[in-house]
Amino acid sequence: MTTTDHVIQRTASVEQRVDAIQAALEAKGFKAAEAVEELAHKAQEEWIPRNGARVVAKAWVDPGFRKRLLANGREAVTELGLALPKHHRHLVVLENSPKVQNVICCTLCSCTAFTIIGLPPDWYKDLEYRSRVVRESRTVLREMGLDLPADTEIRVWDTTADTRYMVLPERPAGTEGWSEEQLAALVTRDAMIGVARLEA
Ligand SMILES: [Fe+2]
Repeated sequence: MTTTDHVIQRTASVEQRVDAIQAALEAKGFKAAEAVEELAHKAQEEWIPRNGARVVAKAWVDPGFRKRLLANGREAVTELGLALPKHHRHLVVLENSPKVQNVICCTLCSCTAFTIIGLPPDWYKDLEYRSRVVRESRTVLREMGLDLPADTEIRVWDTTADTRYMVLPERPAGTEGWSEEQLAALVTRDAMIGVARLEA
C-alpha cells in the first residue's frame, strides 16, 4: 500500500463513517436507521427553543414558579410537562438583571440543556466562540450585536455533562398585561444562551 492509499483510507468522509457504523449496528441486530430517524424527529419537533420560551414567560408572570425555577430548574420545568434527559442532572437557571448579563458556553464541546432551549446553533459549537467568550466576553457579545454598558457585569458559565444552564432574560418593558403566550413569543434561543437581550 502506498502512503497516498493510506491517507485516503484514514480520511473517509463523515457520511462514509456514519454509514459504516450504521451498517455495523444493523449487522448486530440494532435498529440504527430507526433510531436515527427518531432522533431527527425529536430534534426538529420536540427539542425546540419554544419549550424554554414557555418556561421564561411563566417565570415572568408567576413569582412562585420563578422561585422554584431558580431553586431547582430540573424539577420546576416538569410543571410545564418538560423534562431533561437523566444525565442532565441539574438545570441551573441564571437570572439576568439590568446590571448582570449571564452567558453560557461549553468550552469542551457543545453541551446545552437542549430539551429546553433547543439544540445548539453552529456558532455555539465553534472553537472560536467557545474559546473567546471566556476570555473576551464583552467583545464577543458586541460582535454578536449585544453592546452592553461598561458597568454591566458579564458572567460566563461553562456547561458540563451533568450541569446544564439556561439564561432567564429580563422581561422587556412595555409588556405589562401580556398573556404568557404573547410573552413566550418574544423569547429567543439566543436570549436563553445569553448573547441577546429582548425587546417588545
Ligand atoms: Fe459539551
